[in-house]
Amino acid sequence: MRPTGPRIKNPAQLIAESGADLEGHGLNRTMGLFQLVCFGVGAIVGTGIFVGLSDSVAEAGPAVVVSFLLAAITCVLTAFAFAELGSAIPVSGSSYSFAYATLGERTAFLVGWCLLLEYGVSVSAVAVGWGQYLNELLDSLVGWQLPAALSSPPGDGGVVNIPAVVVIGLAALLLVRGIRESARATAAMAVVKLVVLVLFCAIAFTAFRSDNLSPFTAHGIAGVTSGASLAFFSYIGFDAITTAGEEVKNPRRNIPLAILICIGIVTLLYCTVAVAAIGALSADEVADQPAALSLIVDRVTESAFGGGIIAFGAVVAIASVVLAVMYGQTRILMSMSRDGLVPHVFEKVSPKTSTPVANTWIVALVFAVPAAVVPLDVVMNLTTIGTLAVMASVNIAVIALRRRYPDAETSFRVPLYPVVPALGVLFCLYLIWGTGWRTWLQFAVFLAAGALVYALYGRRNSRLGLRQAAAAEAPAATPEG
Ligand code: ALA
Repeated sequence: MRPTGPRIKNPAQLIAESGADLEGHGLNRTMGLFQLVCFGVGAIVGTGIFVGLSDSVAEAGPAVVVSFLLAAITCVLTAFAFAELGSAIPVSGSSYSFAYATLGERTAFLVGWCLLLEYGVSVSAVAVGWGQYLNELLDSLVGWQLPAALSSPPGDGGVVNIPAVVVIGLAALLLVRGIRESARATAAMAVVKLVVLVLFCAIAFTAFRSDNLSPFTAHGIAGVTSGASLAFFSYIGFDAITTAGEEVKNPRRNIPLAILICIGIVTLLYCTVAVAAIGALSADEVADQPAALSLIVDRVTESAFGGGIIAFGAVVAIASVVLAVMYGQTRILMSMSRDGLVPHVFEKVSPKTSTPVANTWIVALVFAVPAAVVPLDVVMNLTTIGTLAVMASVNIAVIALRRRYPDAETSFRVPLYPVVPALGVLFCLYLIWGTGWRTWLQFAVFLAAGALVYALYGRRNSRLGLRQAAAAEAPAATPEG
């Protein structure tokens, strides 16, 4: 076989391929800007702020606000890259498709592999957080909780996490019914969570004491750094907007706008929640507390009713994250399947519902397993490091896009190029540093497994690779024939 060229798909080819599917029995373009912003907020605000805030406070002390800002800066820098790439390549598949168009198939496969952490394992992490708050809610409503054996994984004092599995099953049911219903459900839940967090701030600020904010950097710069890596989890999900590329009306305008609006809203929200929380109780009292937001409201109002409302908000908020993140995972697998890098079953769309039914149920079944039996901190850290690796690749991809396709059609361009994407990469590396060596090691093993899967399956079945090989063989075959 003669050597073939680099395995890269140009943006026009990616758009044409997704368009061809749309004309047949592909996905429907039903989402406008408002729905998209709600979808983004729905994908972002969840376990990270409701469950993870107290872990970040334990690391950073009152300087947790700085940790949240550092995580936000990383996201904003990367959001610009997402916005430019999302408008140049408005197809489902998110960072995977961006890498395919700019960095080549091997990198794209590894990015898709890391997206299994960002979306798939994160479905597990978020579902585990949901189970915790469901128990809080049951406690405040009926004074009863599910026994630990049935609501926690082995490492956390239980046997199996049934609520986490149930919420994944419910999300799968909604998703196979169709994006129109799912987007409506997500939008409604996004509004509930915003209202609950604003209510939390309003109550917590009535007990604000500035003394609680000092000493500000109680655990030094190292604490702020690991706090930022933990806080980063609560921002994960904004890029889910780009996975909806093929279902969005006017994607070149709406995708970049929606990303930037979402990041702006949640950054303001998280920093306000963090200041309100530390202002109401000291950092030591908040640190490592389960359901910290409910606890703070209970203390401030001196009744369990307020905490129950927060628990209700958390249950709603976190369920919508499961929905949005699982949606993203199915769309990424769909894109990879179209390219032949994962089996054909993931790209099949049901003619009845216009949704990838088999794909959705496979994702639900596979990620229900870690949700049921792996402790929360392990799945959260793996989600974080996988997402940071993906984000670093997106910042590199935007540089590659400008170099490879200087005339690419975009409605948004990264400002102060190339400083912004270069800083984006540095911030991602900084937060990866903060996740600690155990997580680096787990991630290295995961990446090595990905490289093996690509070598044994993806590379051989790649449709682009097969086409290139056929084209390379054809002229050589002619003279003999
Ligand atoms: N950002 C998402 C959450 O906080 C993953 O649950």
